[in-house]
Amino acid sequence: MSAAASDFARAADPANVFRQGVRDANGDPVEPAPWQEHVMRSEARRHLILCNRQAGKSTTVGAKASHGMLYAPGTYLIIAPTLRQSKLLFQKVVSTYRRLEDVPRITRDNETELVLANGSHLFALPGDNDANIRGFSAPRAVIIDEAARVADTVYAALRPMLAASTDGQLIALTTPYGRRGWFYDAWETSAGWDRTTITAFDCPHITPEFLAEEREGMSEWQFRTEYLCEFTDTDEAFFSSELVDAMVDNTLEAWS
Ligand SMILES: Nc1ncnc2c1ncn2[C@@H]1O[C@H](COP(=O)(O)OP(=O)(O)O)[C@@H](O)[C@H]1O
Ligand SMILES: [Mg+2]
Repeated sequence: MSAAASDFARAADPANVFRQGVRDANGDPVEPAPWQEHVMRSEARRHLILCNRQAGKSTTVGAKASHGMLYAPGTYLIIAPTLRQSKLLFQKVVSTYRRLEDVPRITRDNETELVLANGSHLFALPGDNDANIRGFSAPRAVIIDEAARVADTVYAALRPMLAASTDGQLIALTTPYGRRGWFYDAWETSAGWDRTTITAFDCPHITPEFLAEEREGMSEWQFRTEYLCEFTDTDEAFFSSELVDAMVDNTLEAWS
């Protein structure tokens, strides 16, 4: 495809940024699944993405950030529980962007900052302390990876930044992490949020054999959390089964 045709294809459909920029481990192009196309095309200002481990969340949102930096120049922020995790998503944005043809050149690329000649600026930030993320104003997008593990205090520090920008997007992607925290609350109440979810059984690139092995190798609640995206609380499950046992025993005693 010529450079001009690549640009036309991307402009006509953001999902084509995924097709042009994402490669698998062998370096081959990857066809986005329907939910990935939906995320690429979504203009929702508040978007929750709840998918299993290895679904392709970070890949998709990394491609989406590349698209945004290309066509909507501005500040883009990536936050994750640790800087190491933010950098992983940052690298996905960089590698996707580098594969696109006929795009503004990169003027700075270090481990945590990507700057484009069109003025777009991407930062990878650690989400382990809300002090790290203060000081940015009116970003075009705030992306929160492993969002269910990002502290409520950090999330609370992000919200005011977006209030100052009329078209800023907040995109939170994650697997579940118990019935607690801002992501769980937002998912359950859903007010003002667009929501996208799939389980591992909806992922064409995850085989039933792989899932069967994973199910063998972890506890049932872990499997339900990681691959079926259920908000399961370990402690709660433990205590409730204990309670059930106690009730049964008491009943038996009362009758004996
Ligand atoms: N549509 C797809 N088809 C095939 N492989 C995919 C697709 N989307 C993502 N992948 C691959 O799945 C793996 C996990 O992707 P990643 O984005 O890290 O998942 P997650 O963030 O959901 O855990 C990567 O190797 C990625 O290249
Ligand atoms: Mg990920």
